[in-house]
Amino acid sequence: MSRILVTGGTGYIGSHTTVELMQQGYDVTIVDNLSNSSIDVLDGIEAIVGKKPDFANIDCGNHVDLDNVFKQYPDIVGVIHFAASKAVGESVEKPLLYYRNNLGSLITLLEVMKVHQVQNLVFSSSCTVYGQPDAAHLPVDETAPIQKALSPYGNTKQINEEIICDEAHTDKDLHATILRYFNPIGAHPSAQIGELPNGVPQNLLPFITQTAAGMRPELKVFGNDYNTPDGSCIRDYIYVVDLAKAHVKAIDRMLHAKKRDQVEVFNLGTGTGLSVLTLIHEFEAATGVKIPYTIVGRREGDIEQVWAAPKKANEVLGWKADTPIREVLASAWNWEKKIRNIK
Ligand code: UD1
Repeated sequence: MSRILVTGGTGYIGSHTTVELMQQGYDVTIVDNLSNSSIDVLDGIEAIVGKKPDFANIDCGNHVDLDNVFKQYPDIVGVIHFAASKAVGESVEKPLLYYRNNLGSLITLLEVMKVHQVQNLVFSSSCTVYGQPDAAHLPVDETAPIQKALSPYGNTKQINEEIICDEAHTDKDLHATILRYFNPIGAHPSAQIGELPNGVPQNLLPFITQTAAGMRPELKVFGNDYNTPDGSCIRDYIYVVDLAKAHVKAIDRMLHAKKRDQVEVFNLGTGTGLSVLTLIHEFEAATGVKIPYTIVGRREGDIEQVWAAPKKANEVLGWKADTPIREVLASAWNWEKKIRNIK
């Protein structure tokens, strides 16, 4: 049996990935400081897979604590690193916090992995590294140019990718897979785990589901004067369960592929871009719930349109994000109803 360490494993993508790993027979140890997640997530995971993952309530930037986890679990063969602060707006307000958390935890993790000769790392990155790709690079594949980050959060993703590449350059035993996510949405079909945003949601779908639940009077659509067919921004919304499965494929490949590059990068998206207005209408069609919305001005720093060319992940990982969008949107609504006790 192989054990995977999942940092940030009680978070949104981490918890869904833990479920998929356990269902594929991996043992999982989660480390999480619960700064943006709840211990109850472990019960949700247990309700789905019939077993709790091992858990350590530590900060993965703490060298001593992390070292102890590796000592306690000598069967760790790979690490998936999710633990990071992720609110774009907050990162502009508190850049030092973001640089300390997001860079410090990766550096500590790489140091401790080296001591314990754990040589496989999957890193949770973002399509934010591409900024607004020019028309020639839409849809975006992995060769599109990296552009200057628009926020400290985005910059930490870029710098972390560079840290991994620099370390792999000198340590030929280190293998890494960098996964650049597009826009993860939805919840597990069991409604046992899902997204739990802190305070007022900044991301689109949690705002929609909270509006549907009556917690917000209306959704504000940030701009309808973009150069897109309906004027609203376009994104590639990927089901979190499909995304989680890509992590299992990445780990399988790192452990079993005969030949692979030392550092591999994959864009994880569906390959289809949807506008904000389309997503609202699809949500209404999927759930029968009307979403009141108004059009307001553009949000600063927003990108007009970006969606993935997932061919490399499709072919090399043997993975595809193909859950129909209405099923995905219904899963998000089922989760919202469950946590708000709506029948
Ligand atoms: C944002 C971040 C991105 C990060 C990702 C993490 C920015 C500029 N980008 O992506 O770096 O990796 O979150 O999940 O913040 N929208 C509305 N009304 C709302 C909320 C959103 O119209 O109340 C629109 C936005 O303008 C955007 C789309 O919905 O066009 C998606 O927004 P969001 O869910 O915040 O994701 P991104 O901006 O793509």
